[in-house]
Amino acid sequence: MTTSQIKKRIQFLCAEIERHNRLYYAEASPEIADYEYDLLVQELQDLQAKHPEIQAPAVLDKVGDDLDKSAKTIPHKERMASLSNAYSIQEVIAWWDKIALELGDRPQLCLEPKIDGFGINLFYSSGKLQYATTRGDGSVGEDVTENFLTLPHIPREIPLQSDIEIRGEIYFPIKAFLAMNESRRQNEEKPFANPRNAAAGSIKLKDIEMVKARPLRAFFYTAGYIADAAPFGSQDELLRWLQDSGFPVSDKHKVCQDKDCLINFCNQMEEQRARLDYDIDGVVIKIDDTALHHKLGSTAKSPKWAIAYKFKPEEKETLLKRVDFQVGRTGAITPVAILEPVYISGTTVSRSTLHNFDEIRRLNLHEGDTIRLIKSGEIIPKILAVNKDLRPAGAKPISLPDKCPVCGSPLSREEEAAIDYCSSADCPAQLARSIEHFASRDAMDILGLGTALVARLLQEGIISSVADLYRIDYDKVKELERIGEKSARNLQEAIQSSKTKNFDRILYALGIRHVGTVTARNLAVHFQNIDALEQASAQELSEVPEVGDKIAESISDYFANPKNHSLIRELKKQGLKMSFESQKESDSLAGLSFLVTGSLSNISRKDMESLIISHGGKILSGVSKNLDYLIVGEKPGSKLTKAEKLGTVRIIGEDELIAMLERKT
Ligand code: IVH
Repeated sequence: MTTSQIKKRIQFLCAEIERHNRLYYAEASPEIADYEYDLLVQELQDLQAKHPEIQAPAVLDKVGDDLDKSAKTIPHKERMASLSNAYSIQEVIAWWDKIALELGDRPQLCLEPKIDGFGINLFYSSGKLQYATTRGDGSVGEDVTENFLTLPHIPREIPLQSDIEIRGEIYFPIKAFLAMNESRRQNEEKPFANPRNAAAGSIKLKDIEMVKARPLRAFFYTAGYIADAAPFGSQDELLRWLQDSGFPVSDKHKVCQDKDCLINFCNQMEEQRARLDYDIDGVVIKIDDTALHHKLGSTAKSPKWAIAYKFKPEEKETLLKRVDFQVGRTGAITPVAILEPVYISGTTVSRSTLHNFDEIRRLNLHEGDTIRLIKSGEIIPKILAVNKDLRPAGAKPISLPDKCPVCGSPLSREEEAAIDYCSSADCPAQLARSIEHFASRDAMDILGLGTALVARLLQEGIISSVADLYRIDYDKVKELERIGEKSARNLQEAIQSSKTKNFDRILYALGIRHVGTVTARNLAVHFQNIDALEQASAQELSEVPEVGDKIAESISDYFANPKNHSLIRELKKQGLKMSFESQKESDSLAGLSFLVTGSLSNISRKDMESLIISHGGKILSGVSKNLDYLIVGEKPGSKLTKAEKLGTVRIIGEDELIAMLERKT
C-alpha cells in the first residue's frame, strides 16, 4: 500500500471504530459481532504501530461512550480503562513471559471470568454509597444511582472509611433475558439483541417501576480510585474483601503460578461457559500483586498488568426435533433442521439450514439426535456433528422426501451440486419464492415486498405471477386487513420505482438457475439486450466469462420455456429496461479477467468491478486458471491462497490496477 492508501485506511478504520463504539455503547444496538470489532481494532493498532508518523484521531485511547447527552453525569475519580485482548492462550503466555522478563521474576496471576455485561462504577465515601455511574466515555459516567439501587445485594455501607470507587459489571441473567424477549415478541415489541444490550437498556430506563421489573444482577471485581495507600495487597485479597463486604463476586476466580494452571483455567471456563446463567466472553488475567500494577503502569487505553483472553465462537449441543424441506425459487429443496431452541452467542437458535440431502446422510441425522451447533461468523448457525452416544434407542433416521413436499411432483437430482429439485413448473412454492427473489435487494429492490406480503398477495388472488406485480389493483390491497392505505401507497411507489433498475438487475431478478449477480452483469455487458441474449447459441453464450456448459444450458432452458417468454414480453410492455446502459470508458482491459477479494481502501468492491467493466474487462466470481488478475485488498482470505497455489494468476493491489488504466488510457 502507498502512504496515501495507508492514511486513507487508517482514517476509514478510525471512523468505523467510532461508529461501532457509538452503536455499541450509546445506542446499545451493535451491527457487528465483538470478534469483528476486535479485528478492526487490531488492524488499526498494527497500522498505527508501523506508521507512527501518520496522524489520526485517537479512537483507540477513548473507551466507548455510553453517554446520553441529556442525563446527569459525574466524572470518574480514576479513568475506567479497558483491557487489551488476546485471542489465544499462547498470546497470554507471551504477555506473561514478557512481564516475567521485565521484572526478573514470574509474578503470580489472578484469573477471573470476563463478564459480558455493562460496566458500572460505585463511589463510597465515609463508608457510605454516594452514587452509581455507568462507564460513560471512560472519564465521565452517567448517574444511574436510583435505577442501580433496585438491584439486590448491593451494600449501602462498607467497612472502609476512605473514599473508594468499586467497579463491576451489570448483567441480565440469561434465563430471564430469554423469557423477557419472548414476551416482548408476543407484545410485538422489538426484542433485545442480547443480554448485554438488555442490561444497558434497562439500567438507563427513565421509569424506575420498569427497572424493578428487570431482574438485573451485578458482579464486582476491581477498585478504581482509592484515597488511602492501597489497602489491598493483591487482586485475590481485593476479591475476598469485596465478598466479605457483601458485594456479589463471581465464585470462579483462581490464583495461578504456573502455565498449566493458566491453561486449565482458561479451558475450563470456556467449557463451563454454556452452563452459566450469565454471558462470559473470555477470561481476565491480572497480575495478582497490586504493588506490581503501579510498577508496570498503563497505556492510554489499558493497564499493562492485565489482559483479556477472548473465547472462540461458542459451540452448543441441542436436540434435533425434525427436518423440514423447503422449496426454493428454482425448485431446489433445502433441508432445514428444526431444533430445540438453544441460546448461543447472544440469540436463541431454533433452525439451522443444511446444504442438501447428502449432508443429512453424512451427519447420519436421526430424529431426537443431540447435535453440536456453532454460529459461523457468529451469525449463521451450523450443525457440526451428532453426539451418537446420546441417540435415543429406536430413533428414526431422518427420511428424505422423494416428492416435492409442497406440490407432490417428482424430484430430479442435479448430481454435480448434489441438489434435489421439484420438477414441476407450476409449483406454488416456487412461484412465491420467485416473486420474493424478484423483489429482493440485489434484484429489483422492492422495499417492503417480503415473504409475508408476497404470500398475502398470492393468497388473495391479487397477483399470480411476477408480471402481475406491475398491474396490481391497489384498491384491493388497501382493503386488506392490517395493510391499509399507507402501506398500499408505499408498495405502489416501490414497485413503480423498480422500473428504473438497470438491465443486469432484471436479468438477475428473473431467477435463471445458476445466474447470480456477477454472471447477470457479464451477460448484460456481453449481449447488451434481452433479444440478443435470447437468441444466443450455446457457442455464443460460452464466450461470456464464467458461462460454462451448465449455465449455458440453464439459460437456454429458461428461454425455451414459453412461460418465461411471455413474462419477458409483459415486463417489457410495463417499461422495464431490457437493454444495458453502460458508460463505456475504454477498451484498455479488453480480453482480461479480474476478481476482487478483501476490502479495498479507496473504492468499494462494486465500484471497482464497474470500473473494470467500463474499461472492457471481465469479472469472474471465483479463482480458476481462466483468471488473469486477482485484485487484493485488506484481509483477503481463501481466494488469495488459492490464486497463489495456482501460480498462474497475477496478484495485484488496487493501486496497480489504477496504474494499469492510467498507462493504457
Ligand atoms: S478488570 C483496568 N475484570 O471488561 C481494567 N474487567 O474490556 C479493569 N470486565 O472494562 C477491568 N469482567 O467492563 C475486569 N473480571 C473482570 C471483568 C472485566 C468483565 C469488563 C470491564 C472492562 C472490560 C474490558
